[in-house]
Amino acid sequence: MMRKLITNGTIASDAEVYRGDILIEEGTVRAIGKDLAEQLKKAAPDLYQETEIIDASGKFVLPGGIDVHTHMSLDVGFARAVDDFYDGTVAAACGGTTSIVDHMAFGPKDCSLWHQVEEYHRLADGLAVIDYGFHGVFQHLHRETLSEMKEIVQKEGITSFKVYLTYDYRLEDDDLFEVMKAAKEQGIVIPIHCENHGVVTNLRRSFLESGCREAKYHPLSRPADCEAEAVGRVLHLARMAGEAPVYIVHLSSAAGLEEVKRARKEHQRGFGVETCTQYLTLTDDLYEDPEEGLKAIMSPPLRKKADKEALWEGLADGMIDTVATDHCPFHFHAGKAEKQYGADDFTKCPNGAPGVQERMNVMFSEGFMKGRLTLPQVVRTCCTEPARMYGLYPKKGLLEPGADADLVLFDPAKKHVFTKEDIKGASDYTCYEGMELEGDIGLVMQRGNVIVRDHKFLGKRGDGRYLKRGRSVLCG
Ligand code: URP
Ligand code: ZN
Repeated sequence: MMRKLITNGTIASDAEVYRGDILIEEGTVRAIGKDLAEQLKKAAPDLYQETEIIDASGKFVLPGGIDVHTHMSLDVGFARAVDDFYDGTVAAACGGTTSIVDHMAFGPKDCSLWHQVEEYHRLADGLAVIDYGFHGVFQHLHRETLSEMKEIVQKEGITSFKVYLTYDYRLEDDDLFEVMKAAKEQGIVIPIHCENHGVVTNLRRSFLESGCREAKYHPLSRPADCEAEAVGRVLHLARMAGEAPVYIVHLSSAAGLEEVKRARKEHQRGFGVETCTQYLTLTDDLYEDPEEGLKAIMSPPLRKKADKEALWEGLADGMIDTVATDHCPFHFHAGKAEKQYGADDFTKCPNGAPGVQERMNVMFSEGFMKGRLTLPQVVRTCCTEPARMYGLYPKKGLLEPGADADLVLFDPAKKHVFTKEDIKGASDYTCYEGMELEGDIGLVMQRGNVIVRDHKFLGKRGDGRYLKRGRSVLCG
């Protein structure tokens, strides 16, 4: 039906939790208030007859999750992430996420910035089941690169372009600084993968030379100070570029967070910080087990309990803005078993792990139900701030009249032990195997359509819309 009413729900925004009904028409939230069903029944009985009523008594109603860091179909040269834009977005939908902003892979050497934009439309259009946008990616800075960026912003609504400080296509400080100055001038955000490439390269080489090849050497080759040095450097460079809009992706360590705190204390404006579900809930002891360790090879690596705790605090006190996933699954046993490429040499393992399906439920359970965060803090970091950081607000990330009717219903009374049997995407393992999740996702709606009910995906291939994004709040 074109009109739906969600009644008696406990609605959570990034600021408050309140009881109310939500009237949805043509995919948009029309009204929120008390007793909307009664009012409609009295004022327009015919319309009421044609309205689908969804009873949300005893449930929390949250805006649909927004995961601004995924890597569907990521091609890393010797392997490709196993969730394409269909499987990966089905998994996202079943986990209460209704929009993603996906990070593009690098293209061929010296390719234009347009190359990957076109490639990603081929990969996603007609497949994605939830709304999706792309972050562009810099892999060099040629004379024409910045004008290509300007064109892509205007034509495609891609208003963020990532820079890596490690890997083959990293940018050095000179080029990064140039990009930051252009970003400031043009109102674009630069998400940055912060690790010190020289140190990582050196440590990986020395581990291999001494025959240290198991997964447990992966975290040792990428210590927390590598992240902290790069985070500090980026924030200083951004300040020198006139408080350029930068966004630290997947912050994983207490040491990195200290750099963020310093910049916030010095009132630096225009930067955002993201952490990911895995850095809040998992630790590096997984690497002691060769199998579990292989599954958890990702960059940056999992850290210590103290890092985890610092990150929860950072979310609660507003130092960290968003929680994403860096969803990038490879098979462990199934298909080409790409993770096994690292079985005898951790440097050969494709980096990344699944997480897009788990994020909202893990944050509801480990954040809200366990008392680490309030429900508005969960909504702020998983829905509202991601939308604000990446130019999707106020269409996405909140439940207010005029916003898209993207939402998720949580039943706090139900618990479930998450296992690989629950996976809806293509991956054959979950890093959250055996985790008890409090709160059950009963229903997910995208633009007024119920796309998940009782864990069953009801949406359609290709129903996701491409998101042309606007200006980030980081750009003033
Ligand atoms: O390990 C990760 N994060 N894999 C995805 C690619 C990247 O580094 O972001
Ligand atoms: Zn990533």
